[in-house]
Amino acid sequence: METRVRRIFDELENPLDAVVLLNGTEPQVDKTFFYATGMHGGIFEGCAAVLRPDGTLSVLSSQLEADIARSQDVPVEVFTGKEEKAKALERLLKGVRTLGINGNELTYAGYRQVVEANPDAEVHDVSQAIVKARQVKDAAEVEMIREACRIAVEAFEELLPSLEVGRTESEVAAELNYLMQTKGASGPAFSPIVASGPNAALPHHATADRRLREGDLLLIDFGARYRGYASDVTRTMVFGKPDEKQRRMYDVVLEAQQAAMDVMKPGADGKAIYELARDVIDGTEFKGRFIHGLGHTIGLAVHDGAGMGSLPGTTLEEGMAMTVEPGIYLVDYGGVRIEDDVLVTADGIEVLTPATREFLEL
Ligand code: GLY
Ligand code: MN
Ligand code: MN
Repeated sequence: METRVRRIFDELENPLDAVVLLNGTEPQVDKTFFYATGMHGGIFEGCAAVLRPDGTLSVLSSQLEADIARSQDVPVEVFTGKEEKAKALERLLKGVRTLGINGNELTYAGYRQVVEANPDAEVHDVSQAIVKARQVKDAAEVEMIREACRIAVEAFEELLPSLEVGRTESEVAAELNYLMQTKGASGPAFSPIVASGPNAALPHHATADRRLREGDLLLIDFGARYRGYASDVTRTMVFGKPDEKQRRMYDVVLEAQQAAMDVMKPGADGKAIYELARDVIDGTEFKGRFIHGLGHTIGLAVHDGAGMGSLPGTTLEEGMAMTVEPGIYLVDYGGVRIEDDVLVTADGIEVLTPATREFLEL
């Protein structure tokens, strides 16, 4: 994992002696710990990694996960309790005068442990450098994301025959999770959003017990997790024949998504791509009803740090994995979102989620 550790140091504005990543208990486990160490197969609660500018690293593992940690390609020290952990951390940080922490993920309790391990070190938040380092995926990461996407698409295709009027949103979510796990996912990347009828107007609807009805729009936003990596896909369908408004909503969203995909390539500006897609929607009777960003990087996190939206700052680079997800949301009526995951290639994009984008009639 030397290259990944070096990438983090390369992104720093000022050189530092070390960076420490310290996990709390689930869900306060820093995904960068997995990125930098390449470790998998455990939860690694309470574990730590100390990274150095020469690309080397040391891992501190609790006894609980020592066997998993030792089976991997990293140097591991094992601690049995709080005191031993504090001493080991003190030893690893000895002589470090400038120390980076991941302010996006480190808990306050974790921060106290770091400061107590080396009270003399000058502590810097390096979360932005970490975000940048993680934006462009290496070949191993692309393979994991590709697999997470394959699983999601295949699960969705197998789910389709079971989508019937009368079932609840929660039943659909459970079935989808089951299918993804039987196809190799360790679990869902996030709780699926199954939003039916008027609920589809809420981009982050909390899936519940509403039963699917004839005439409903049905929006399903879901993803698989594979070896820590996430996919993130949305498809919108209709029960029965779509009426004119539903059909028009779908066609406009699809056109916006395609317009964005057509211009995505290295060097393209995320904000400009968002504006292009937004303008497709704003040029119709649905003006103002695209109410979120166009896309975000995916990786170990579903929202992996960069995005295409109204804020500037993202320039596409080869190796980024991004969602492209325009939508139209009409309060008390319903919504349409189409979301695919793409990999930015040398001269464009590769779609990683080739599920049909036809407006499916159930
Ligand atoms: N599933 C959340 C999102 O699409 O960003
Ligand atoms: Mn999504
Ligand atoms: Mn998304």
